[in-house]
Amino acid sequence: MSNHATTMFWGVGDGSQFIAGIQQSINNLVQQSGIYTGDNLFTYQRNLSFLDDEPLMAAWRRHASDAMEKAILWRTSILLGGVRNGLKLTGDFVECGCYKGTSVRILCDAVNFGAVDKRYFLYDLFEYDAATMANGMPEHGQQLYEQVQQRFADLPNVVVTQGRVPEVLGEVAPERIAFMHLDMNSATAEVGALGVLWDRMVPGAMLVLDDYGWEGYRAQKLAEDAWLGARGFQVIELPTGQGMVIKQ
Ligand SMILES: C[S@@+](CC[C@H](N)C(=O)[O-])C[C@H]1O[C@@H](n2cnc3c(N)ncnc32)[C@H](O)[C@@H]1O
Repeated sequence: MSNHATTMFWGVGDGSQFIAGIQQSINNLVQQSGIYTGDNLFTYQRNLSFLDDEPLMAAWRRHASDAMEKAILWRTSILLGGVRNGLKLTGDFVECGCYKGTSVRILCDAVNFGAVDKRYFLYDLFEYDAATMANGMPEHGQQLYEQVQQRFADLPNVVVTQGRVPEVLGEVAPERIAFMHLDMNSATAEVGALGVLWDRMVPGAMLVLDDYGWEGYRAQKLAEDAWLGARGFQVIELPTGQGMVIKQ
């Protein structure tokens, strides 16, 4: 059985002391297996089934290049579950807040998306916009939109759109959705996206809310609970920090 050990944790004071503490805990395990460290997770004696998922792991090895992308493997495996579920349904896939496109690139490779009769719609501002977001991302800038387009140049069924969600959804968006991932660190943007796209999700489609379980983004959880709760849906909070809903 394998482990997945990274040192990427958020909200830590002295990083080396924190990691030394985790290492000490690992040293005291009866059986040093099923260990996942990183992304604010520390597990042991878990199956970590995704480590045996060869298409996922091959794509992840190819495209996850920085510490954060490596640490969020478990989250990425949840997204892959949503994508594979969506392959059996009518409709296209959506990610609002694609940033560099790393997660979707991994997902596309893992399912050979070029051979799939669906489109994957990606949206992002790609540049820091003080009016819309609290913090920019390190690679935000004028070049990023083109870089992400280039990253998917071999996949004509991936549609990369620059613009602000939800407004841009009025210009480009699928009519039916078989999987949707919202990852914009913004309650206004994500509830706005739900307002436009939720009714287009087909029965059985999975919605993943990347920030739902994170205290720092509690405003999103509260807004999404209220919006989805009013429609009779409960978000399941996953240990990865994601929220998940199956549209029925
Ligand atoms: C955490 S990153 C997304 C990471 C990406 N989903 C991944 O898995 O690699 C959040 C992104 O949301 C984008 N964003 C924030 N508010 C937005 C909005 N209203 N419309 C479009 N994109 C937005 C930001 O530009 C940023 O790139």
